[in-house]
Amino acid sequence: MDDYDRRQFLRTTVPGFLGVLLALPSLSAAATKANANKGRPAKDGAMNWDAFLTSVAEESAKQHLDHWNQEDYLKKISALALRLNREDPLLQKGFAQIKTRLEKGNVDFEYLEKRLDFAICLVQFEKNQTISAHDHPGMTGMILCASGKIHTRNYDLVSETSIALADGKSETRCVLKQSAEQTLLPNQITTLTSQARNIHNLKAEEITQLIDIFTPPYNDQRAKDSRWFNIDPAAQPGTKDLFDALVTK
Ligand SMILES: [Fe+2]
Repeated sequence: MDDYDRRQFLRTTVPGFLGVLLALPSLSAAATKANANKGRPAKDGAMNWDAFLTSVAEESAKQHLDHWNQEDYLKKISALALRLNREDPLLQKGFAQIKTRLEKGNVDFEYLEKRLDFAICLVQFEKNQTISAHDHPGMTGMILCASGKIHTRNYDLVSETSIALADGKSETRCVLKQSAEQTLLPNQITTLTSQARNIHNLKAEEITQLIDIFTPPYNDQRAKDSRWFNIDPAAQPGTKDLFDALVTK
């Protein structure tokens, strides 16, 4: 097991993950027992990774149906995420092994699974680290706080205006309505849909680890379409929840 590094673990696929699991003598019996019960350990209802992925895949496939209800979907995968056995040593090791510091606010993240329909990502924040306001075009998101404490604000886009500048360029100014505000503690969840709460920012109040599921995941087009916002700290005069914002990317 010591030969498996972070990249191998975090990027492994379902068969690969089970291969790792079954290679561990200490976990082999538990895995066998769980697989015999469709991946669900019988005692406490916690789901192993395989069962979790299978269930999320089944639910996320419904996004292709005509009348897919995003809020209902988020409730279902939130319930699944709360059942995921996070004490699994392999998942714990995944968090422990997040070391690669990436751009975008010095937030560390790694994909656990990325498919056409959904992606599951581990994200770790240091205390006081932030992700500034950004949107998720055409996507739903479920973010579970696995440990720590993190403050989130969500916004809905109310209007936007393109303004011509003197240098011939233009800028986009928006009005955003704050639609949610939460301080997530372990086992608490925040969600967004393509229509509601789609813009959010996050600030960790402690070292924080998140498990997020985005459906569909970022692809080249969605990454290109995503935007970042510089939101005025004060609400518009006479309002409590309307904020002016400048699109920065
Ligand atoms: Fe986000």
